[in-house]
Amino acid sequence: MTAGKLQNRSVWISGGASGMGAATARLFAAEGAHVTVADVQVDVGQQLVQEIASAGGKAAFHRCDVSAESDVRDSLQQAAEQFGPPQNIVNSAGIVAVKQLHECTEADWDALMGVNLKSVFFSLKHALPFLRSHRRSYMVNIGSVGSFTGQALTPVYNTSKAAVLQLSRAIALDYAEVGLRCNCVCPGITDTPMLRYHLSKTADPEAVLNARLKRVPIGIVLTPEDIARSILFLSCEDSAGVTATSLVVDGGYLAAAEWESSDQTAFRDPL
Ligand SMILES: NC(=O)c1ccc[n+]([C@@H]2O[C@H](COP(=O)([O-])OP(=O)(O)OC[C@H]3O[C@@H](n4cnc5c(N)ncnc54)[C@H](O)[C@@H]3O)[C@@H](O)[C@H]2O)c1
Repeated sequence: MTAGKLQNRSVWISGGASGMGAATARLFAAEGAHVTVADVQVDVGQQLVQEIASAGGKAAFHRCDVSAESDVRDSLQQAAEQFGPPQNIVNSAGIVAVKQLHECTEADWDALMGVNLKSVFFSLKHALPFLRSHRRSYMVNIGSVGSFTGQALTPVYNTSKAAVLQLSRAIALDYAEVGLRCNCVCPGITDTPMLRYHLSKTADPEAVLNARLKRVPIGIVLTPEDIARSILFLSCEDSAGVTATSLVVDGGYLAAAEWESSDQTAFRDPL
């Protein structure tokens, strides 16, 4: 058997219990990584690590609120003790609030910024001693197409995602000297519980989804596995030389100012 792309690496994934984070945990474990899943969803997080173990992989779950610095510090320390100093960080934890800015409370603002943005700061700060112990290390943060464009009804989320991209660039510049590459994966419409929650706040979720897909040239919803493969690319030497940038995985959404996709694209047929 050939070694995986992440063989024996200690990897820490925030928001790893669900959606893209969970798909990344599965893929990274299949590539030989020892995966720490840090999330607030205890049941699904524990089920996932059991599933990974049943498939022959190595994973541990930590209950970790990524907006709390002490949780992030303790989880990274525990990961280092169990699996060795983390070499890879993936920040996938995220929450969204669907309301106009004047309807948001200060608590909404703080919660969104805490989970989506401050968590990246905490993870860099407390992972740095571990990352710098490796000759090469990797951080991948999850932005969004909303890192580049304005989005209706999600002003705080939208702002946090623009800031995640900028913080990723800043981290990449400052820590290249210790061998860290830091990049931002920016997904488009991806079928996860967050997307379903977002749609549930609309009067007709399926109609809204179909209308949004009209703006996506490939005409389909992305899967969490699609995003995980891009995260893997930026988490190993396949992407050598790539740092301080974004990888947009959006089915072409950002390329078109106005677009109406065909009802039938080849992407609707399974491979
Ligand atoms: N789904 C999409 O269409 C889409 C598009 C662009 C960007 N994103 C981003 O992708 C990332 C992953 O989201 P997803 O779509 O997989 O949704 P998801 O809801 O399936 O996953 C988000 C995970 O973050 C965890 N989380 C929330 N608050 C937390 C906290 N305080 N501490 C630790 N973990 C916490 C949740 O429990 C969940 O497991 C997010 O950053 C999201 O903003 C999603």
